Amino acid sequence: MNVRKVLIPAAGFGTRTLPASKAIPKEMITLVDKPLIQYAVEEAAGAGIGQVGIITAGWKTAIARHFGSSPELEAFLAARGKTTVLEDMRKISRLAEFTYILQPEQLGLGHAVLMGESFAAGEPVAVMNPDTIYDCPVPCLKQLKDVFEERGATTIILGRIDREGTSKYGVVRAEHVSDRVYRIRDLVEKPGPEKAPSNLAVLGRYIFAPSVFDAIRATPPGCGGEIQITDAIRRLVDAEPVYGVLFEGRRYDAGDPWGYIEASIGLAGKKSEFAARLKALFR
Ligand code: G1P
Repeated sequence: MNVRKVLIPAAGFGTRTLPASKAIPKEMITLVDKPLIQYAVEEAAGAGIGQVGIITAGWKTAIARHFGSSPELEAFLAARGKTTVLEDMRKISRLAEFTYILQPEQLGLGHAVLMGESFAAGEPVAVMNPDTIYDCPVPCLKQLKDVFEERGATTIILGRIDREGTSKYGVVRAEHVSDRVYRIRDLVEKPGPEKAPSNLAVLGRYIFAPSVFDAIRATPPGCGGEIQITDAIRRLVDAEPVYGVLFEGRRYDAGDPWGYIEASIGLAGKKSEFAARLKALFR
């Protein structure tokens, strides 16, 4: 099953990033030199996935403006001979084929994914949480896609977390299958340390078989009164195999103020123009 489509849920209010995200969509906040959501789209392109469906809210027009072409800006840059920047701007709209899908009410991540059912149109579909930024030798979504295509069943990215993380993430109970692959037997959304079945968490990258949409429809509101994708996957586990794959690389939670600071420093340090200056700053 070839994966050609990805959904990026981007309709939420971004309460963890207020006041920065009051007027600017949280997905459009700059991380080093580009908006958060661009990292997700580039990761999808790096995994060879070219159809991007962005689940959005009516007020977040900046996202479509960012990925669309900007004739006025392009004319301005061309007239001034700024050809390198001009080409960089054109590349943004060529990263993928973009579709915008409205989520009229913010009823949870599961509900957001359900809005993408027509976009998926019976094909497998990836889901990327744009707050989670991966810096991996092989793009994280490519690591996931390889396992999905081999197994032909819903597969999600997993990573080890500390005690505190158990109240921030979905946590799984899983059996080791081979190498970095696990078979998932149970999942709990934000269980806290007492109820966490392990230290393996769901970390913002999923590839779903088409059966996920019926599972979401059958899922009542859960943690926080929201329709949770974790609970929908829990249903799938009862009916069919679901796999997890441990990613190789570095992850940042840029939707949280400290994670954002870590991501800014970590990613800036990888740019040749900033690396030496960053070292000097912390000397
Ligand atoms: C969502 C999911 C959660 C997952 C987390 C990190 O939570 O519900 O299961 O572990 O993303 O990707 P959120 O961060 O939106 O509260």
